[in-house]
Amino acid sequence: MEIKKDKYSIKYFPADITKYVQEGQTFYFYATDTVLEVKVFSDKIVRFRYAPDGRFQRDFSYALVENLTIQNANLSVYKDRHKFDLMTDHLVVQIYKKSLKVTILDRKYNVISEDELGFHWQHYIKKGGKINYCSKKIQDGEVFFGMGDKPMELNLRGKRIENYGADTYGFKKDQDPIYKNIPFYLGLHHDIGYGIFFDNTFRSIFDFGKEQFDVCSFWARGGEMNYYFIYGPELMNVVEQYAGLTGTPEMPPMWALGYHQCKWSYYPEKQVREIAQEFRDRGIPCDAIYLDIDYMEGFRCFTWSKEGFPKPAKLMGDLAEKGFKTIVIIDPGIKIDPEYWVYQEGLKNGYFCKRADGEFMEGDVWPGACNFPDYTNPEVRRWWSGLFEEMIRMGVRGVWNDMNEPAVFEIGTFPEDVRHNFDGDPCSHRKAHNIYGMQMARATYDGIRKFLYPNRPFVITRSCYSGAQRFSSVWTGDNIATWEHLWIANMQIQRLCMSGISFAGSDVGGFIGNPDGELYVRWVQMATFHPFIRTHSAGNDPGAEPQEPWSYGSKFEFIAKKYILLRYQLLPYIYTTFWQHSTYGIPMVRPLIMHDQTDTESL
Ligand code: NOJ
Repeated sequence: MEIKKDKYSIKYFPADITKYVQEGQTFYFYATDTVLEVKVFSDKIVRFRYAPDGRFQRDFSYALVENLTIQNANLSVYKDRHKFDLMTDHLVVQIYKKSLKVTILDRKYNVISEDELGFHWQHYIKKGGKINYCSKKIQDGEVFFGMGDKPMELNLRGKRIENYGADTYGFKKDQDPIYKNIPFYLGLHHDIGYGIFFDNTFRSIFDFGKEQFDVCSFWARGGEMNYYFIYGPELMNVVEQYAGLTGTPEMPPMWALGYHQCKWSYYPEKQVREIAQEFRDRGIPCDAIYLDIDYMEGFRCFTWSKEGFPKPAKLMGDLAEKGFKTIVIIDPGIKIDPEYWVYQEGLKNGYFCKRADGEFMEGDVWPGACNFPDYTNPEVRRWWSGLFEEMIRMGVRGVWNDMNEPAVFEIGTFPEDVRHNFDGDPCSHRKAHNIYGMQMARATYDGIRKFLYPNRPFVITRSCYSGAQRFSSVWTGDNIATWEHLWIANMQIQRLCMSGISFAGSDVGGFIGNPDGELYVRWVQMATFHPFIRTHSAGNDPGAEPQEPWSYGSKFEFIAKKYILLRYQLLPYIYTTFWQHSTYGIPMVRPLIMHDQTDTESL
């Protein structure tokens, strides 16, 4: 290996290739210590994995669909003094003997992606493991998209992005990271679109020409350099293929695409009934009503407030008669209370996360001091799924997963030493943080799906990692009732759709603060064309005003109603668009650039 020193760090680079081995569609290139595995998944998808010391880590992914099949590629290999050329029907993948550098071209020999320094690494002396980097040259006029929910302009060129999901109440434009962790980007230059999915769950960083104008690099503070290169050349095709790797949702129930109404919190049940009745009296369609944390007894998950919701089954039955589905919130924090059955079960069975020294991970959330299930343990996921049986029997029709970054008051999230099972390969929170929320949503989904059968499940989550779209829809978290946030929400939904997550929406009208009538109806109008439409607001905040379609006087009610009705008129089309998404991975909202990628001004 070659060593380059600078003042702050020592960077290591692979030595030159001494031999290579081909096993079917997988190639191993051996430098003195380092091995590069190149696996051809199809004519257009190639995975690159590097083992700096020659030892690969477990080949395991939460993101990929189960039983991912490798498509036969029409492969040929050529060697010359400097490099190997692996050719498929669409690509020429060149592996240079010097430092394992990679260049990928199309079959007309146009460069699609070219390593700058390529793969290199640093020892992470302080925390263990390595920081694995990959850097590529930015091509002339190249623009970048994707990366989940980042609240910024669609084109990411010139930005540095980070994935380490955070509870970001009232996030601002350009704030990063926020809730979601999607290490997938699309590049576009010379009408050639491609994607890179860096399947690494540690904190990951992507630099799209911020540090150096003409260099795009990505790295993670642990784990492996393990990325999928996906060739389009149409951006649409890149997103479809990414969906082939990480999955799509099954069809939702039709009602889930209708209008939803939410507040923190409608309380007590009388208020829920009043709101529901108001919709019917005013002839405004609405399919779902949400119960936020106050439906619980002292914020204990899977319980009902004796005072506010004494007869939940009756309430949900009556709502169902009026055509409403009831969705309830659930949080990962389980109150430490020896009298509380969920806590007892979790404790008895060792389902809660522990700190490095064996103490439980304890942190304050809504109910006060809590322990937290380790959803990366399959047994814990099964237990969690089972907890929904009774809820569904009582009438719950969908579940809202919140605070699953995971959020902890005062300290933000779990300390890094917290231990996780990680499906049989124990690790610290550094590795599990970015998939914690996704595994919670997955466990919830498994339960809802099972107990609601033959009806279709509906699940929504705030945090997630790539692949979570198989289990859950998403919303964009605690936004603000401002015009700027109206714009942000529109960017986020388009970006999420380009990042494989189409079933997405924002809190209509803004979660924090009070919109005026015009802002509220503009938001309804916009969300009419987003895959998920739900009004939600922080009604418990001091000074909060009601946020329902009729809250701003008859003029605005008329407009809100008109658009909600339009949404219902469009439902067959939206449902069909969902089917296209579910079947082919086609994004439901498509930014202009996906319709005309020759015009990079059409962002
Ligand atoms: C934070 C969520 O983002 C918000 O939507 C919810 O209303 C509150 N938690 C209370 O549960």
